[in-house]
Amino acid sequence: MNDKRYRALVAYEAADNTIQRRIEQKDIDSLPAGDVLIRVHYSSLNYKDALSASGNRGVTKQYPHTPGIDAAGIVVTSTDPAWQKGDPVICTGYDLGMNIAGGFGQYIRVPGSWLVRLPPGLTLLESMRLGTAGFTAAQCVWHLERNNITPDKGPVLVTGASGGVGTVAIVLLRAIGYKIIAVTGKPSEHAFLTGIGAHTVMSRKELLKDADKLLLPTRWHGVVDTVGGAFLAAAIKGTAFDGVVTCCGNASSSELALSVYPFILRGVHLIGVYSANCPMERRVRIWEKLAGEWKIDRLDTISRLVSLDHLEVEMKAMLAGKGKGRCVVDLGGAEDVS
Ligand SMILES: NC(=O)c1ccc[n+]([C@@H]2O[C@H](COP(=O)([O-])OP(=O)(O)OC[C@H]3O[C@@H](n4cnc5c(N)ncnc54)[C@H](OP(=O)(O)O)[C@@H]3O)[C@@H](O)[C@H]2O)c1
Repeated sequence: MNDKRYRALVAYEAADNTIQRRIEQKDIDSLPAGDVLIRVHYSSLNYKDALSASGNRGVTKQYPHTPGIDAAGIVVTSTDPAWQKGDPVICTGYDLGMNIAGGFGQYIRVPGSWLVRLPPGLTLLESMRLGTAGFTAAQCVWHLERNNITPDKGPVLVTGASGGVGTVAIVLLRAIGYKIIAVTGKPSEHAFLTGIGAHTVMSRKELLKDADKLLLPTRWHGVVDTVGGAFLAAAIKGTAFDGVVTCCGNASSSELALSVYPFILRGVHLIGVYSANCPMERRVRIWEKLAGEWKIDRLDTISRLVSLDHLEVEMKAMLAGKGKGRCVVDLGGAEDVS
């Protein structure tokens, strides 16, 4: 490669010890060792990125650092025989963007074992309209299906409905025939949520009504919970017999206080969902489903495309709980190709 310079968002420690962010010109040689160099075309913003970019040491230990737990792009060079120059790939999770320079830069270098081949039926842009949030929502749906939650059983409750995981969960569940009850703290987004497929929109306050009781009337058979805390507890208490609750996030709290009654009186199943270290076999299977039988036609209704320069605004909104849908980052790779 002749020109080794590239643009990246860098979170760095300022003189007052706060973590600040700026766009820098970096050198490809400064990337960590790894098997595969990738020209990133698109990344996407996830909650963990906003934490990494703002100095959360539980996510990122050392600064300066380039966040971005998601990247989709084209292989430039590879020492791993599984990958060749020109291969279109998706890289999400593992240590990408946490302690390894991530997708908010135009290049990444990672182990070949972290990569998923872009499945036929999905573009690089579509893969990042989904990103880790969409992949996680899809895993929640996968767990619901594997545990016999079918559309005829009854509705699925989605919390944090206007966020990244929530919106993908709604459009996916709707596309495959489920009825959805969406829980949101944003009265202004009720019309948006019904527009993308929710049948009913519930306020956070309504979900928490009588939530101090040990059990609540059963109103849904499945749950995709992204917020944790009192909302997850209320969701579990209102789940029908043999229903399934998937728990993937803690946007409200990491605590969970409840009795064993939903489990021993109603047989409710509580399933934890993790993405960063999702086994490769399941990873590939879920991406293939998202490119095929679970293909979502109108991902543009829940996502927007922004440049690296616009991420500051998006990250602040996300940390304030004001994010909406998915934010995709354009790293300019498509122009390289054309
Ligand atoms: N397990 C995994 O592998 C995995 C993968 C991806 C994400 N996650 C986690 O899942 C969660 C959601 O991620 P995301 O990408 O959807 O984030 P997001 O886009 O920021 O959405 C989170 C949504 O949660 C709701 N919310 C925010 N603060 C809240 C509060 N204090 N109380 C109640 N609701 C609140 C808001 O929706 P409303 O205003 O509509 O209520 C917000 O839009 C995060 O905790 C993230 O770390 C986990």
